[in-house]
Order: sequence, then structure tokens, then C-alpha cells
Amino acid sequence: PFSEAEVQSARGAWEKIYVDAEDNGTAVLVRMFTEHPDTKSYFTHFKGMDSAEEMKQSDQVRGHGKRVFTAINDMVQHLDNTEAFLGILNPLGQKHATQLKVDPKNFRIICDIILQLMEEKFGGDCKASFEKVTNEICTHLNNVYK
Ligand code: HEM
Repeated sequence: PFSEAEVQSARGAWEKIYVDAEDNGTAVLVRMFTEHPDTKSYFTHFKGMDSAEEMKQSDQVRGHGKRVFTAINDMVQHLDNTEAFLGILNPLGQKHATQLKVDPKNFRIICDIILQLMEEKFGGDCKASFEKVTNEICTHLNNVYK
């Protein structure tokens, strides 16, 4: 559960990065794929995954970056309503666990990259305001696997 103050500061932090959802979502994915190349194994149907330059131009990577950020944005709109928040997160977790078979250790990896990007672009306060959200997302996604 988030306090009213936490909800407000997390939303403020998220808005900064979500303004450029496609570019920033893409930047997060490209960093995940380059720093953790094993994560590319889930995206063998994506073309042009051989270099960061190619990935940044890929419509598939860009589309997926936008999709991931849109899903997080939906969660961020419901931080004050646990039932609605989990109503978005749990089905997504189910899909990643059963259909996509993503190793859950990768959720912490992508969340840490989002926080890293927030800090680089908008500073430590921005990152700090969003840490609890990424912690909740990771905790619940991991719980789906238990
Ligand atoms: C698909 C969100 C983490 C691999 C998706 C979709 C969303 C999403 C919204 C589309 C679901 C649909 O079509 O019904 C997220 C969020 C994440 C996350 C919010 C964490 C914050 C990851 C990680 C991996 C991953 C860490 C692997 C390293 C995939 C794959 C697909 C997918 C392979 C299918 C892509 C396709 O075929 O187009 N994800 N995801 N996801 N996700 Fe994630």
C-alpha cells in the first residue's frame, strides 16, 4: 500500500519518463539486451538484434518498449487501489510465467534499468520516488511464480 504522498511523488517521477514513452521504453530494452544478452533469447522472433544501433531503430523493439511502458503507466494510475493495481499486474505475471516462460530474475534487471535511466535523466530524487513502485512490481511478478 502506498501513502497519498508516495502516490503523488511516484506519479510525478513516472510522468517525467513516460512523456517519451517510446524512446525511453526502447532505451530500457536496448540496455537490457546489451548488458544482459541472455534476455534476447525470449525475443528470437525480433529482427535486427545484433547491435544497439540496430535495436534502437527496430520497429519491433520500439513497439515493445512502448507496450511495456504503457503497462507500467496503467499500474501507476492505480497505486492507490491495490485491487486494481494487482488486477493489471497479476494477469501480466501469469502470461510471463506460463506462456512466455520468462525467468523471474529478469524482472529485477529491467526494473533496475528503469530506475537507472530515471536517475541519469532526472536525478536521484526521481529514482527514489519510484523505487517502491518497482519493488511492488517485482515482488508481485515473482509471487506469481510461487
Ligand atoms: C510481452 C510488460 C518484463 C519478455 C509483454 C507485454 C507486456 C509486457 C505489456 C505484452 C503482453 C501481451 O501481449 O498480452 C512487461 C513489464 C515488465 C516485463 C511491465 C516488467 C516491468 C519482461 C522481461 C522479459 C519480458 C524482464 C524478458 C527478459 C516478454 C516477451 C513478451 C512480453 C518475450 C512477448 C513479446 C512479443 O512476442 O511481442 N511484456 N514485461 N518481459 N514480455 Fe514482458
